[in-house]
Amino acid sequence: MILVVGGKGMLGSDLLTLLGQRGRGVDLPEIDITDMASVQRVLTALKPSVVVNCAAYTDVDGCETNHDLAMQVNGEGVAFLAMVTREIGAKLVQVSTDYVFDGGKGSPYQEDDLPRPLNVYGESKLAGELNVQVNPDHVVVRTQWLYGLHGKNFVETMLRLGQEKDRLTVVDDQIGAPTWTMDLAKGIIALIDAGCRGTYHVADSGSTSWNGFARAIFAETGMATQVEPMTTAQLNRPALRPLHSTLDCARLTADTGYRPQPWREALRQYLVLRAKEV
Ligand SMILES: NC(=O)c1ccc[n+]([C@@H]2O[C@H](COP(=O)([O-])OP(=O)(O)OC[C@H]3O[C@@H](n4cnc5c(N)ncnc54)[C@H](OP(=O)(O)O)[C@@H]3O)[C@@H](O)[C@H]2O)c1
Repeated sequence: MILVVGGKGMLGSDLLTLLGQRGRGVDLPEIDITDMASVQRVLTALKPSVVVNCAAYTDVDGCETNHDLAMQVNGEGVAFLAMVTREIGAKLVQVSTDYVFDGGKGSPYQEDDLPRPLNVYGESKLAGELNVQVNPDHVVVRTQWLYGLHGKNFVETMLRLGQEKDRLTVVDDQIGAPTWTMDLAKGIIALIDAGCRGTYHVADSGSTSWNGFARAIFAETGMATQVEPMTTAQLNRPALRPLHSTLDCARLTADTGYRPQPWREALRQYLVLRAKEV
């Protein structure tokens, strides 16, 4: 059985949909990964063969003022999961982020590139990447710019703002790949089924800016909202962000055969599905 920790979250929900009978989800309050006794109790009772950790403190700006909570959930919590999965002989898949990089490379990041986080969230996720190594049977999956049916995300924010305003200003100097949580979930399952270990990048293919992503959302939904450019510096958020953090996913394709689809095609499919669900 594949246990999805953080199973009520945006990624966890899609992963459980795809896993069907193979999966089981747990989340707060059934498990609290910052509490070793809780992790031990749940994992020894359920005896999974694989644990996928989708639980995280994901508020990037909130992490700047809640350093201790960020380190507890994203760092220490992963150490507890690694210790207990090693004890029970289970594989641990840890979901991480492009924010472990500083965005200064100028070309897509490969798995072995040197991390240098710019913010507390990135530092805490890097601590998680290091702590997962306590279990030799681990996979680190770095991803980026997620959206999906079951959580707050950029697509939902743009669709809401687009109803309220004729004109929006969106940053155009951060580059990445918008990634549908369904496509990421397929990548995670492919890595598990191929018996992979180590670090992998999983993101939809191609790249754009947040501004380009917003334009695509309005174009695909036929909304007339105008999208003006602005810089990251002008936006002045509490956490610094990497400017160009596209992830090279060649290792994923070489080792599993799975090739994530172009981000624009994924967006189109997501919007069709969303229209049926909402
Ligand atoms: N979202 C992105 O754009 C993005 C980009 C790159 C990487 N990632 C990574 O992808 C993974 C999934 O992200 P997501 O957006 O799906 O996250 P999400 O929707 O915020 O889901 C995280 C889940 O974990 C739960 N959780 C929080 N603290 C917990 C704890 N101490 N013990 C157990 N469960 C806990 C949350 O519960 P509550 O809601 O009750 O707190 C929530 O259900 C994370 O590792 C994240 O760092 C996300």
